[in-house]
Amino acid sequence: MEFFEVLKKRRSIRRFQNRPIPRELVEKLLEAAFLSPSSYNKRPWHFIVVDNREKLDALSRAKLGASGLKTAPVAIVVAADESRSDVWIEDSSIAAEHIQLAAFALGLASFWVQIRNRMHDETKTAEEYVREFLDIPENYRVLCIIGVGYPAENKPPHGDEVFDWEKVSHNEFGKRFK
Ligand SMILES: Cc1cc2nc3c(=O)[nH]c(=O)nc-3n(C[C@H](O)[C@H](O)[C@H](O)COP(=O)(O)O)c2cc1C
Repeated sequence: MEFFEVLKKRRSIRRFQNRPIPRELVEKLLEAAFLSPSSYNKRPWHFIVVDNREKLDALSRAKLGASGLKTAPVAIVVAADESRSDVWIEDSSIAAEHIQLAAFALGLASFWVQIRNRMHDETKTAEEYVREFLDIPENYRVLCIIGVGYPAENKPPHGDEVFDWEKVSHNEFGKRFK
């Protein structure tokens, strides 16, 4: 699929068909992540592929807004070694988005579940919940979970209304570019 078609047509999908993703496609998603740029090329990421139904159900309870993982056949937890990079958030965010774009280009759909800075309940962070549940070492921070699968809902592509030229300045803030 042409690159701009991928960008326009990718939408967050939170309901998935009860159909597994072939192993080769899951590997492709991870290859897309590994092709991400990272600060000083430190590549601090660690990706946890979860395809066990009970574990996916548990992840769907990590926080409000994770419930789409109940139907996702695969979730990729995006984490990074904080001791390796002070900009692990940026590095991991780019990798997560590579996964989302690659998923769409491969005929899959996905959505992002924010974990960092979110709460599981009043006492526990979503990150602690995921860390404990998947046995993630202390030096690894958890950014997000990308739920992936074959879509069970349709969403229209983004239209030209997203091109918000008021948000672009030319040479100085506030001077319109277009
Ligand atoms: C940093 C970030 C955090 C997000 N967190 C969640 C989330 O926790 N749960 C969820 O269902 N969607 C989440 N999303 C998806 C957004 O809601 C979605 O991208 C946005 O509404 C635009 O829709 P689109 O992806 O279809 O273009 C998140 C997206 C980003 C980039």
